[in-house]
Amino acid sequence: VEPFAPLVLQRPVIRLIDQTLLPHEERWRTISTVGELQEAIRALRVRGAPLLGIAGAAGMALAAETGDGGNASLARAAAAIGSTRPTAVELASGAAAALEAALEVADSAARLDCLWAFASRYIARRIEEDLRLARLGAELLPPGAAVLTHCNTGVLATGGIGTALGVIRVAWESGRLSHWYATETRPLLQGARLTAWELRQAGIPSSLLPDTAAASLIAAGNVHAVITGADRIAANGDTANKVGTYGLAAVAARHGVPFYIAAPTSTIDFACFVGASIPIEMRDPAEVGGFAEVRWSPAGVGAYNPAFDVTPAGLIAAIITEAGVAAAPYSVSLPGLRGMP
Ligand code: MRU
Repeated sequence: VEPFAPLVLQRPVIRLIDQTLLPHEERWRTISTVGELQEAIRALRVRGAPLLGIAGAAGMALAAETGDGGNASLARAAAAIGSTRPTAVELASGAAAALEAALEVADSAARLDCLWAFASRYIARRIEEDLRLARLGAELLPPGAAVLTHCNTGVLATGGIGTALGVIRVAWESGRLSHWYATETRPLLQGARLTAWELRQAGIPSSLLPDTAAASLIAAGNVHAVITGADRIAANGDTANKVGTYGLAAVAARHGVPFYIAAPTSTIDFACFVGASIPIEMRDPAEVGGFAEVRWSPAGVGAYNPAFDVTPAGLIAAIITEAGVAAAPYSVSLPGLRGMP
């Protein structure tokens, strides 16, 4: 079980590590209201699809704590939390599932207890599912594998051992992994700041690379598998993940290297039939022209800054979940994972 928790329930508040300041500063923030949580989500102080699910569920406890706890105000809070960032399906579904649980309970004090207990169970489930997923994924790797990953998919992104990083950690512990390559992940550097922070702690031999060096690394035959997480998986297997993922999958396919998605089944959105229906978050152009206080582009220059892209199902060798490993055709294998929809 992962000893570090990036989001902690401390009724009547939640505490989270501010991921915008890592790795140089480990500052914890107290979040007492839905508004404060929304600010933290938008600014990426708390981020990563499964952790956003936890934030969504915990946010509902904050809503009940600070509001009247009635049906209408809780429903409004779930809608507000769910729309704070559009791409990761688990933010909205985590809040909606908490709402559904609360609506089963009539008494307002019992409702508050129910929402805090729901958030706590949500965290426990994430830890348990991550471990199952990581073990299944590690078995897919050949002995001595060198693996490339993108963005951050470890404890900071899930609250558990992680998805793609969980696979890599278990593969390392079971002697299957020889090297771990992590992209820096422009423009917000989740790889260079967050994955690098996690991999240093894990003590796995690793190299950080500029996003632009991934194609030549793969072409040189130095990578045996590419594994990333996901923010939303459509029913046909098309997968939205951190921008740059599609490029990695395309290059991996060009060189016969398997490209895997590692994500819990809660990331699958059966209401989204194809990737083209997944809403893609567009972020502030200013993020491309600088970082934190440093600006390197002239003021006022325009930028194209999607936070995610969609990898077509045809480029995905398998989707690794806690409920099993799905292969093409995904419109058949994904519902079969849970007997869903
Ligand atoms: O914008 P972010 O940092 O929230 O994006 C995160 C990613 O794209 C992750 O790869 C994805 O959420 C999977 S996390 C296990």
